Amino acid sequence: MTTQRILTGITPSGTPHLGNYAGAIRPAVEASQRPGVESFYFLSDYHALVKTDNPERVQHSTLEIAATWLAAGLRPERVWFYRQSDIPEITELAWLLACVTGKGLLNRAHAYKATVDKNIAESEDPDAGVTMGLFMYPVLMAADILMFNAHKVPVGRDQVQHLEMARNIAASFNHRYGGEHFVLPEAAVDETVATLPGLDGRKMSKSYDNIIPLFATPDALKKLVFGIITDSKTPGEPKETEGSALFQLFQAFATPTETEAMRGRFAEGIAWGEAKEALYGKLESVIAPMRARYEELINEPARIEQVLKSGAAALRAKYATPFIARLREAAGLRSLDRLPAIPTDSRTRTKAQAKPQFKQYREADGLFYFKLAGGDGLVLLQSRGFASARDAGQAVAGIKNGEDYAQWSELAPGASEADIRQAVDALRAD
Ligand code: TRP
Repeated sequence: MTTQRILTGITPSGTPHLGNYAGAIRPAVEASQRPGVESFYFLSDYHALVKTDNPERVQHSTLEIAATWLAAGLRPERVWFYRQSDIPEITELAWLLACVTGKGLLNRAHAYKATVDKNIAESEDPDAGVTMGLFMYPVLMAADILMFNAHKVPVGRDQVQHLEMARNIAASFNHRYGGEHFVLPEAAVDETVATLPGLDGRKMSKSYDNIIPLFATPDALKKLVFGIITDSKTPGEPKETEGSALFQLFQAFATPTETEAMRGRFAEGIAWGEAKEALYGKLESVIAPMRARYEELINEPARIEQVLKSGAAALRAKYATPFIARLREAAGLRSLDRLPAIPTDSRTRTKAQAKPQFKQYREADGLFYFKLAGGDGLVLLQSRGFASARDAGQAVAGIKNGEDYAQWSELAPGASEADIRQAVDALRAD
């Protein structure tokens, strides 16, 4: 079996909090210790430029987040740990990918659409405040993933659409330039990882202003823990664990045995002050050793710089530089001293003559699929899997007869509805 490549990016635009630690950092560090996986963790600092216009903040957050991951136990000698902007091949790839990405695909990206919808609701110009960075965000993210042909991408639910787009873009490139250049990556959304509640009981999130910073000083940590909202039950009254932010936070950092003991104390009517003391003690015991490593690291930024730089250098040499050379070659960015005879079809082929086509194929999962590619090689539709070639064929025939294609498509359509309809119409005219 080939090694599973797992890749994820962390955007350096804020200070890590307990929710980031329990939801992303801790599971990632654990996963990186499993055998048979090659892990890629990187700071997506180019993406940070979409979220903040403050250069100091990007720099500072990059340092903080890198130090956090190292303090949490990530071993740069066992995983790829790097900074996106240290790998220029990624931005180069983003352009190659942009040229096989339908604008219609990006029009449907949630983050972009939300901004446009909000502008419209406020009777603003639809594009007010929309940069090309925001619009192209999914393309850059696809480049991050496809550069290293990652199989699995652990992300939150909000990023699943970006993964679908990356698959679509990868399929378009493969189709246009003939060949399995890219693996189609999959999102891995871990349902078992709890989202931690914040101080007010809602999901811990910077945008709710309810976070507990992972490396707050012990005093600040204690203050925040004592500020967690509880109900007004008095000492001695039994307390609910269900829906208690305090209990959920405790559970996220305690062993199962400790959690059960705490459940008992809730039933016995532990006083809130006592429960908060216990939570603070638990958090401090887990965090203190990490905090000590963190402080050491953060005071040696040059060492972190060195770790990131050497990660990127090794990764470029092993993957990025040779791979981008192959992709450039595939796309026609080639040396002129090896000029082949110009094939007649590329001299005479015009856009109008290039036909859309349906292609049926079987995947490693044993299922049968089809895709529809436009005359320009963009994958417009990709089907879900069918049990037999006959079923897939019937769906294709149905689409040609004017049935709704959306029922069979697995991915967000790779182009505008109009492009798809036009391609289908061209085929029906045959
Ligand atoms: N968009 C991701 C986020 O905001 C960060 C990210 C950038 C990423 N590139 C990526 C995640 C590639 C996974 C893979 O959380």
